Amino acid sequence: MLLTLNDYRSAARKRLPRPLYGYVAGASETGAAEEDNEAVFREIRLVPKVLRGVEGRTSQQTLLGQTWSAPFGIAPMGIAALMALDGDREMARAGADATIPYVLSGSSLTPMEQVIEANPEAWFQAYLPGEVARIEALITRVRLAGFKTLVLTADTAVLANRENNVRAGFSTPLRMTPRMLLDFGRCPRWVFGCFARTLLRSGVPHFENSYAERGAPIVSKNAVRDFGRKDHLNWEHVDLIRHLWPGKLVLKGLLAAQDVALAREHGCDGVILSNHGGRQLDFAIAGVRALADARKVAGDMALMVDGGIRRGTDVIKALAMGADFVFVGRPLLFAASIGGRQSVTEAINILRLEVHRDLGLLGLNGLEEVDKSILCTTAEHC
Ligand code: FNR
Repeated sequence: MLLTLNDYRSAARKRLPRPLYGYVAGASETGAAEEDNEAVFREIRLVPKVLRGVEGRTSQQTLLGQTWSAPFGIAPMGIAALMALDGDREMARAGADATIPYVLSGSSLTPMEQVIEANPEAWFQAYLPGEVARIEALITRVRLAGFKTLVLTADTAVLANRENNVRAGFSTPLRMTPRMLLDFGRCPRWVFGCFARTLLRSGVPHFENSYAERGAPIVSKNAVRDFGRKDHLNWEHVDLIRHLWPGKLVLKGLLAAQDVALAREHGCDGVILSNHGGRQLDFAIAGVRALADARKVAGDMALMVDGGIRRGTDVIKALAMGADFVFVGRPLLFAASIGGRQSVTEAINILRLEVHRDLGLLGLNGLEEVDKSILCTTAEHC
């Protein structure tokens, strides 16, 4: 039964070949950062208020000038088209159906022009290419495609050490070892429903990390391991993008309050506090732990956070700690692998309903009433 977001993980585990499931579920090195993303929410206790007439409550939230039906969105994840047939567009449509933000990953397998057609309010997440000319070409392409919000992921200066990918046999491009074939043989529904049809359409999938060349093939030669140097990127690149990009600009992957202050100085409209789902620096603090300090310097920027959000109470806790909005990653990708757009919609509805119910249980009429007063702060009780 699929009753909570975590149920999609268990269902996906049965349906997907081990290397693919492992790639999505996994994290870097010891997995400590990823574990803490969920553990941090279990440390926080809530203090409800009663008898407050909550029949008119709403879980709508305004973010970057738009009103969304819930205070959470779909985080960028590059592998959606391997998890579900037409996965990027299926997730984009589910986001549009639910009126929540959907962020297309810069390393997705589907051309951005097709995705924005499926969801005209989609945001685009970019991994910056190395050279200025390619950065300019990328921004031009994103603008011409019609995206209004650009997310720059800043926590990937260096590729992370994800040993579990090696152990699980995941590589890009996928290498067909005998073990991989055995794994695939155990998952006929995925092989015939997604993989074979994707192969027929677009060949062996590589992750396209550069959208710089207009009309670049879906099957790109820019595999993850050689997608261009990133370790030279600095705040001058943010200035360049700010200069080139007329829409909303969001920096993702920040954790230090100092960086949040810099993002504001450099003209960003928002930041997403994130340790990349524990997939970059192991032992990086959970985004939620960075919220209080970030709030002090964020000013009027939108302050967003992701990592480990699985329950309505997690969403509300993050908002109470200072976030304006949150993003959800893995569970929605697992949902896509179960039943595409429909399953993603169901998963979104589960979380949305939890938020709505929790507001009622807390005695609140809307998200604007969520503040620190609902958090238990008495040392001996919490
Ligand atoms: C990601 N994430 C990610 N982030 C990003 O900025 N660009 C990307 O292409 C990807 N790709 C990606 C693939 C997969 C399989 C996963 C699981 C994650 C990170 C993602 O946007 C987000 O920060 C985390 O997934 C949030 O944590 P949870 O909700 O998965 O715990």
